[in-house]
Amino acid sequence: MTETCKLILRGKEYEIPVFEGTEKEIGIDIRKLRDTTGALTYDPGYGNTGSCKSGITYIDGDKGILRYRGYPIESLAGKFPFSQVAYLLIYGDLPTPEQAKEWRRQLTLNSFIHQGMVNFFSFFPLDAHPMSILSSMIAAMPSFYPNYEKEDINNIIVRVIGQAKTIAAFSYKKSIGEPYIYPKTDHSYCANFLRMMFASPAEEYVVPKVFEKALDLLLILHVDHEQNCSTSTVRMVGSSMANLYVSVSAGISALWGRLHGGANEAVLNMLEMIYKDGANYKKYVELAKKKDSDFRLMGFGHRVYKNYDPRAKLLKGAVDAIFAEMGINDPLLEIAKNLEEVALNDEYFIERKLYPNIDFYSGILYRAMGIPTQMFTVLFSLGRIPGWIAHWLEMRNDPDTRIHRPRQIYTGPNERYPHT
Ligand code: CMC
Repeated sequence: MTETCKLILRGKEYEIPVFEGTEKEIGIDIRKLRDTTGALTYDPGYGNTGSCKSGITYIDGDKGILRYRGYPIESLAGKFPFSQVAYLLIYGDLPTPEQAKEWRRQLTLNSFIHQGMVNFFSFFPLDAHPMSILSSMIAAMPSFYPNYEKEDINNIIVRVIGQAKTIAAFSYKKSIGEPYIYPKTDHSYCANFLRMMFASPAEEYVVPKVFEKALDLLLILHVDHEQNCSTSTVRMVGSSMANLYVSVSAGISALWGRLHGGANEAVLNMLEMIYKDGANYKKYVELAKKKDSDFRLMGFGHRVYKNYDPRAKLLKGAVDAIFAEMGINDPLLEIAKNLEEVALNDEYFIERKLYPNIDFYSGILYRAMGIPTQMFTVLFSLGRIPGWIAHWLEMRNDPDTRIHRPRQIYTGPNERYPHT
C-alpha cells in the first residue's frame, strides 16, 4: 500500500501521499493539496520545499556530506580533472579513457568564440564587471547559433562549456587592454583557461602544474550543489521551454549576488578591509553579531550545511599544501584563519551553526594564482555551468516537469474602488 500521512485542517482530515528518496528522505506530495483542501503551503525562500526529484547531487547538511552521482566529493576532488567530473554530472557516469579524450577534444574545439561575438566585446566599457559580460555573451549565443531548437543538444552543451571559459578569459584581457589569447588543443580545460588569462603574444605562459591542479579542484568543488538559487533559476527558466543558452545565462545572473556566488569576491574584499584596519579581526566578529549592523561575516553560514561545509574543509587543506609548495605567504590567509578560529569558538556562531562555507577559502587560492578579485564569481560560474546543464537536462526529461509557477498567499487590500 502506498504510504500516506494525515493532515487535519479546520476539523477535516485529509490523506496526503508520501514517498521516499534513495537516501530515505521523506517527501510529502502536496501537488493535489490545493484541489482537495483549498490550502497552499507557505515557505518563503523555499527552505523546506522539494521542487523536483533529482538524481544528481546528494547533500546531508547536518553530517557535512556531499556526493555527485553517488560519489563522495572527497573521492573526486583533487583526483580527477574538472572536465571528467563535468561529464559525470551531465551524463551520469565517469567517462571511459576514450570518452574522456574525446570529450576533452570536443570542449577545446568548441572553445573558439564566434567572430561576431568577439566583435561584441568591443562595446563593453573597460571596467565592465566580467559577470555582466559572461551572462550577456552567453545570452547572445542563440543569436549567433540560431539552430538551438533543432540542433543536437550535445553540440550545444560542449559549445556552452567550451566557450564560457574563453569568454571569461577574454573579459579579463579586455579589462587590461591586452590582445585575446586563443585556446590550444593540447591543453586541458583548466590549463587553457589559465594560459588565456596570463599568456601574451610577446610571452608564453607555462601553466604551473600546481595551479592547474588547484583550479581543477576548485571547479570540481563548485560543480553542483542541488537546488541552490542559481540552479533553481536555470530550472525555472528552462521549464518555460527557454533554450539552454539563456537558461544558463539566467543562472549566471542569479549566482552574481553576494549571498550566493558573489560571496567569494565579498570575502576577499572583507579580508582586505580587515587587513587595512590593522588586522583587527575580533572587531569584525563582534560587528557581525550586532543586530543593528548589516555586516555579516562573508563566507560563513549556509542554508543547508549546519556542519563544516565539506568543500571548505577540502579547500582549506589544499590552500595549506599549495602555499607551502609555492612558498606563498599571504597575510590575508592569516586573518582568515584567525577569523575562523574566533568565530568557531563564539557562542553566536555555535548556536546558529555558522561554519565557513566554500567561499571562505576559495578567494585566497584564486588570489595566489594571480586571478583578480572581480573574476572570482566568474570562476564559480565556470565550475557550476556543467551542474546547471545536468539539471536543465534532467528537468527536460522528467515527465513530472511543469512550467514553474509557485503560488502566493495574498495579503494586500480587499476589493476596493477609487473615489470618483
Ligand atoms: N554572519 C553573521 N551572522 C550570520 C551569518 C553570517 N555570515 N549568516 C547567518 N547569520 C545569522 C543571521 O543573522 C541569523 O541570525 P538570527 O537567527 O539571530 O536572526 C541566523 O544566522 C540565520 O541566518 P539566515 O540569514 O536566516 O540564514 P539563511 O539560510 O537564510 O542564509 C546565507 C544563508 C548563506 C545567505 C547566510 O548564512 C549568509 O548571508 N552568509 C554570508 C554570505 C555567504 O557566505 N554566502 C555564500 C553561501 S555558500 C556559496 C553558495 O552556495 O552560494
